[in-house]
Amino acid sequence: MKNILLALIIGIAPLLAHASEDGMKNMKADIDLDNKSSLQRGARLFTNYCLSCHSAAYMRYNRMGADLGLTNKQVAKNLMFAADKVGETMTVAMTKHDAAKWFGTKIPDLSVVARARGSDWLFTYLMTFYVDPSRPWGVNNARFPSVGMPDILWELEGMKKPVYKIHKNHEGREEKTLVSYEQVTPGKLSPVEFRDSVTDLVNYLTYMGEPAKMERQRWGVVALIFLAIFFFVAYALKKEYWRDVH
Ligand code: HEC
Repeated sequence: MKNILLALIIGIAPLLAHASEDGMKNMKADIDLDNKSSLQRGARLFTNYCLSCHSAAYMRYNRMGADLGLTNKQVAKNLMFAADKVGETMTVAMTKHDAAKWFGTKIPDLSVVARARGSDWLFTYLMTFYVDPSRPWGVNNARFPSVGMPDILWELEGMKKPVYKIHKNHEGREEKTLVSYEQVTPGKLSPVEFRDSVTDLVNYLTYMGEPAKMERQRWGVVALIFLAIFFFVAYALKKEYWRDVH
């Protein structure tokens, strides 16, 4: 019981800290692009749960495999449900026409969504779906009110109801603020496990937004080491040159 309570507090505390439906602050995504196993888990969630609607047209399967430390065979076996060749990009079978018909909107490509929205925004978005019977899919989202996307991860997270606080604004009118959530049906994962999974997924989306970033960071370190060594060489040289002058 104590553990469940703790899990709920850890899972929801950041929401309590700054939840309001407009002017809402983002929760912090714990991104670590060096964590290969997190990226691999994120890739798996992405290809399982997102790629059926969203494409990632700038990402090739084999490029992802190489960056994430997977062989082409592993990629083909575990991550490719919508393509035949590892050299292909992550496209979807759904046409724009079907998407418009079923969802009433076009479904954005997610290749660079992390750059457009930011990792914290994505994390908050994926953590704040809640039950709302007035919406076509029966759910709404605190980060993206009236969103046209169903709550894809509901099986993992379970369903949660919003808890509002009613207060008067400075004009004396009643306003409601979303302060927390109440779990109504359990998911396959505990709140803490769900949070970790969303972190993996956002980690992957962040990597996908800028696959070159990892490489650049590695070269950045090499450049710094070089500069440090060069500094000592230059300093020794300077001392050598000036020895006779002083
Ligand atoms: C059943 C189809 C479907 C699936 C599966 C799906 N989405 Fe969506 N998603 C949509 C639609 C439709 C929208 C557009 C919502 C709108 O504009 O109101 C959307 C919008 C988004 C957006 C907002 C993009 C933006 O910048 O406006 C993000 C981020 C997103 N989805 C992430 C995901 C992730 C991550 C997954 C996998 C866990 C996922 N989606 C799975 C249909 C889907």
